[in-house]
Amino acid sequence: MSEQVFPGVYRLTLGDPERLTPVSLRLAPPAAEALALMGRETAPPCPMTESQLSFRVTPRGCMAELPLDGFEQLYGFGLQLKSFVQTGKKKTIRVNADPVADTGDSHAPIPYYVSTEGYAVLADTARQVSFYCGANDKVGTSERTVAIDVPGARGLTLYIFTGPTMLDAVRRYNLFSGGGALPPAWGLGIWYRCHTKARAAEAERFAREFREKELPVTVLGLEPGWHTAAYSTSYRWNEENFPEHEAFLARLKGLGYQINLWEHVFVHPTAEFYDDIMPYAGDYEVWHGLTPDFALPEAREIFSGYHRRAFAEQGISGFKLDECDGSDFTGGWSYPNCARFPSGLDGEQMHNLIGLLYQHTVRQAFDPAGRRTWGLVRASSPLAAPSPFTLYSDLYQHGDYLRGLVNMGFSGLLWTPEVRDAASVEDLVRRIQTVIFSPVAMINAWPFPYPPWMQVNSTLNHQGIPMENQTEAEGYCRDLFRLRMAMIPYLYTAFARYAADGTPPVRALVLDDPEDDETWTVDDAVLIGSDLYAAPMTAGQTARRFYLPRGRWADYFAPEQILEGGKWYTFDYPLERFPFFVRSGALIPWAEPLQTVPEHPTFLLRPKYYGPPTEQPVSVTLYEDDGGTLGAAHGTVTLTRDPDGLVTLARDRTDGHILYRLA
Ligand code: GAL
Repeated sequence: MSEQVFPGVYRLTLGDPERLTPVSLRLAPPAAEALALMGRETAPPCPMTESQLSFRVTPRGCMAELPLDGFEQLYGFGLQLKSFVQTGKKKTIRVNADPVADTGDSHAPIPYYVSTEGYAVLADTARQVSFYCGANDKVGTSERTVAIDVPGARGLTLYIFTGPTMLDAVRRYNLFSGGGALPPAWGLGIWYRCHTKARAAEAERFAREFREKELPVTVLGLEPGWHTAAYSTSYRWNEENFPEHEAFLARLKGLGYQINLWEHVFVHPTAEFYDDIMPYAGDYEVWHGLTPDFALPEAREIFSGYHRRAFAEQGISGFKLDECDGSDFTGGWSYPNCARFPSGLDGEQMHNLIGLLYQHTVRQAFDPAGRRTWGLVRASSPLAAPSPFTLYSDLYQHGDYLRGLVNMGFSGLLWTPEVRDAASVEDLVRRIQTVIFSPVAMINAWPFPYPPWMQVNSTLNHQGIPMENQTEAEGYCRDLFRLRMAMIPYLYTAFARYAADGTPPVRALVLDDPEDDETWTVDDAVLIGSDLYAAPMTAGQTARRFYLPRGRWADYFAPEQILEGGKWYTFDYPLERFPFFVRSGALIPWAEPLQTVPEHPTFLLRPKYYGPPTEQPVSVTLYEDDGGTLGAAHGTVTLTRDPDGLVTLARDRTDGHILYRLA
């Protein structure tokens, strides 16, 4: 019943599983070579023996029970905003807009968990499966289990990802998914989304103003107002709001912007491909639109073909895929669970799968041109690691948003704790200090006509009344945007590692050191790449208590200050600072902040060494390619600092694009 499908990845088939599942419908192949590189000899055996598992068919479907040790802690289940440690909890995998409670509902709930004991489990089903994570002992045994209750199915396939470490288990899951997504370098710049009804002239005014004020914005987002019809969507330019949109796009391109367009999945009757896609759509309308069945290649081809011709080939860089999550907390606007789709999926399954199928369909529009895209999405599904889309939400609790950033790395997801309005300048600044560590550093100003640094208050913003301290607020934002821009080479390399070996670029402390039980509950601090640590603050905090991982760490804001990790600290921080640390002994490849990240940039580096004086050379290796082409020729650049502080750069190839130079 158990077979090793890749080194360290085991498949367990229980009963008679369903035909249509996340794995059977996958559109990205596993990263087989990278999985092999993790080693067949060193891959641990399956951590669960048949005798430790139980399975039975029940009147409601089927259920499996997996062992759970007395001390192990579980994490995962996708983008959980309300909780971190999942041991002792019930989680139901149900995709939802506005998941307001700790039920498992999420924009991207994943039937998957990872254990401090160094293994992970994926239940390969699109059903609204429930996990009971050891909340109750079994009668007469005093043993905890993980019970998986699958409605409507007579069987279940489990995939077990072994370690030996917890991080290895996550890496194997990500590689099995296809390896992590590599952004185009511009995707790591600052994003600004214009007001939902902004017309071309307003968008362009902002675009020019950002340049004049040296606010380094790279991606400009247009919201529903660019369509002739939204809810459902027509995917056609509204010529009244955007007259001569080609010329408008060319002007923005000239100013160095990448353009991202909002849309959703429900196809309006006036969409050019409405009739074509009708035979490949579900049997219920949503907002009078069709829901394409992206499990079918025909539907994907029609939808992505249109997006290729109308947008990708016209210079649009990507999309924001809204409203694909479904509705149980927001009036039930989506298709019902009993809807039928021509592939054989029902509405329940489609809800849990459409997020990723939609992402793959839209990504396909960019592939033929060889361009990498980077976009936004409101729902995702298992095996999402290779997908170049970052999740966002309308919920706006800063603490939850930060927890999302900590949780995303367990389950192969990307998340942006986007910034919109704020209760105060302090709130605005603290939120930006969080979002700059995410895959998309975004100001999502869709509800407001003016940027939040001009006016944080929603009512006054609508009236166009600036804050008294707007210059100061703008200054804080500019400094943080510049910090993000300086981090891009470092982040890009962290993402290249995600693509190559599945290491999440941003992750919870527990993933790197589950042996240290102090890390088990830290849901408000992250490791970024191999050498940076941040514990963002929320408004109202003047002092911050934070746990520094084991090792030694230099304070980014006061580098001569080196702290011993493996300890809790509480410090006071002024508004422009927060706990942000660099691993002692590291050389960080800071870049000179650009005003915008071009398609094929060259970053001027000012590497900085953090740590005590050393007699040894210190080096850091960066991933290098042309910054945006799919499958671009790539290599590495190694920066080495000699004991006198002199840094040299060595490239491992002589041709190809130069992404880095020393300043
Ligand atoms: C919401 C979305 C927001 C914004 C808005 C525009 O559904 O979450 O980010 O795009 O629609 O109408």
